[in-house]
Amino acid sequence: MAIKIEFRASGKALEWDDSFDNILEFAEENGIEIENECRMGVCGTCKMKLLKGEVEMEQEDGLENSDREGNMILPCVAIPVTDIVIDA
Ligand code: FES
Repeated sequence: MAIKIEFRASGKALEWDDSFDNILEFAEENGIEIENECRMGVCGTCKMKLLKGEVEMEQEDGLENSDREGNMILPCVAIPVTDIVIDA
């Protein structure tokens, strides 16, 4: 079953496409802008709140412990593992 991503602030709900490496690229391809810098999970610039669901991240250096507790994710290195809702 296809995974859905809802970009709440942008008012878009889209079906995740496995050919993308991460949520940031997927968002950009769909006209949703997410501020970013390193695109490697290190700087934390792209950080945003995961409102629902689960993601996998290959790198989490850009997150502080308080970010993790607040359910923040780094879309430049994250892929969805369930349907998700993010604040973008
Ligand atoms: S752009 Fe640097 S952590 Fe995502």
